[in-house]
Amino acid sequence: MCGIIGYVGKRNAAKIIYEGLKRLEYRGYDSAGAAFICGGKTAVIKKEGKVEALAPYLNGVYANVGIGHTRWATHGKPSDINAHPHSAGEITIVHNGIIENYAELKETLLRDGVAFSSDTDSEVAAHLINKFYKGDLTEAVSQAVKMLKGSYALMAIRADENRIVAARYKSPLIIGYGGGENFCASDEPALAGICERITVLEDGDIAEITADGVNIYDGNLQLVIRGVLPNLAVSESLGLGDCPHYMLKELKEVPKSVQFTHKAFADVEEKLKTALSGVSRVIFVGCGTAYHAALIGKRYVESFARIPAEAETAGEFRYKNPVFGAGTAVFAISQSGETADTVEAARLAKSEGAKVIAVTNCLRSELTRAADVVVPVAAGPEICVAATKSYTGQVAALYLCALTLAGENADGERRKLLWEMPKLCKKVADNIDAGALAQMCACARGVYFLGRDIDYAVAVEGSLKLKEVSYLQGEGYPAGELKHGTLALIDGATVCVFILTDADLAGKTENAVEQVVSRGGKAAVITNVGGVEERLKNKAEYFIALPECDKYLSPLVSAVAVQMLAYRTAVILGRDPDKPRNLAKSVTVE
Ligand code: F6R
Repeated sequence: MCGIIGYVGKRNAAKIIYEGLKRLEYRGYDSAGAAFICGGKTAVIKKEGKVEALAPYLNGVYANVGIGHTRWATHGKPSDINAHPHSAGEITIVHNGIIENYAELKETLLRDGVAFSSDTDSEVAAHLINKFYKGDLTEAVSQAVKMLKGSYALMAIRADENRIVAARYKSPLIIGYGGGENFCASDEPALAGICERITVLEDGDIAEITADGVNIYDGNLQLVIRGVLPNLAVSESLGLGDCPHYMLKELKEVPKSVQFTHKAFADVEEKLKTALSGVSRVIFVGCGTAYHAALIGKRYVESFARIPAEAETAGEFRYKNPVFGAGTAVFAISQSGETADTVEAARLAKSEGAKVIAVTNCLRSELTRAADVVVPVAAGPEICVAATKSYTGQVAALYLCALTLAGENADGERRKLLWEMPKLCKKVADNIDAGALAQMCACARGVYFLGRDIDYAVAVEGSLKLKEVSYLQGEGYPAGELKHGTLALIDGATVCVFILTDADLAGKTENAVEQVVSRGGKAAVITNVGGVEERLKNKAEYFIALPECDKYLSPLVSAVAVQMLAYRTAVILGRDPDKPRNLAKSVTVE
């Protein structure tokens, strides 16, 4: 949610901030803004809409100090006024996070005669810094952030100072180092190709950033030394290549995601084995698509290790007063490693004595700090807001974790099967023809995804992806449950997409196809089970053939098919699949 970037140096900050904001845009894109120090004055430019709305206003700006923000609205609707930066007196700030006690702070400030110009929680921070400013910006920021409850990554500038003061608590913030110039940003991709060395700020840190250097202080304003790390984000991997959208590009990167995740697993296998020894119960948690991977992880653990396993959405799990007990391992799954509910669920599990395993694509994220073991998903940067290759990477990682729990070593038969999957994923990603089915979905009133067992887990993912990028109404549902109520919704304006990859359950799911078709519904079948197409050829309108593979690994191909279907449908409907309305990639608020 929200991305922030700051620059102090000798080059034109306007260009650097604009390009940085473009790279951060996947974190939020309902409004954007920037502030620059120009000749002892602060110039603020902010606009509702995507970052490119700023471009015409930045052309005439030349400054050596600047801060920028791209927003996903929490408090106050998307508008020019609620866009960041926010100013109070000579202080101007950008903020990512949520100030939970903003209402009471605002009330106190209003009583002091302060006038507010936006509906945001963030403006409170600007007024507090202004109130505490007595000639030292660092001191003022330090006092102000002590008043804040919630989360923040913020940067403050003052018209007469060539520096940025940054502070962080529970929202990500990094420093980037250059020669005669320094940076601050929400994440590493924002600085890819610009800074090779970075520092990840800790909770409570305050940083003073000038062109000549960076000082980092703890919450008591004591100077601290933080490690300098290589920036892992590579700028070449952030481009679109020859694809029109990141969603398509990232679907085509699924094979690499599976292959690299498999390779990377070797580095953590021994540590994981040790952490899981004595584990007698497993809980998988995640949100959205990561939760859908959790549904598959549960099936792997139960099938391979015969250990009881549960899958829960992290937001529900953490508030239900969960029972842990001895021998519990919690797998927290998150592409970004920043999702507030997943991070908090992991922290809760740790505090209750459970072993916590983070399964994440972002190895320096908040989630990794709460974990005993980090299992890498090596999907590479995922820019499209809708998760694709990170999901398949998560499924591959969970497959390997479950086999480890079951005691299978690297030479085991199941392990070998996974090495075969990247080329099958590539076949689907390169050759699938989902255009005609997408056309039918685009004209439908509702699209239902149906399957049994592991196919059901993929059905809910297909449904979420279609809703998210095409805005079509629909549901993912267990095929066997259809006749217990949902069948009432089926008519000629509805499409049912059946996923059928388990030969043992094929007959049952075929029955469900018959039930839909005989009520006038339109059916499509995604399958790799022999004979299904022949048996249903007069019933279903479309078939998508998947390559044959082990049934437990079928989500690696069937998910590519349903995600591609969602992509094609979105494009037919003229949506932007990379930046769906109302959404952002990292959900750092509850
Ligand atoms: C759907 C999607 C979201 C995320 C969810 C969790 O395409 O991308 O549902 O899966 O917000 O995000 P992470 O995995 O970063 O915790």
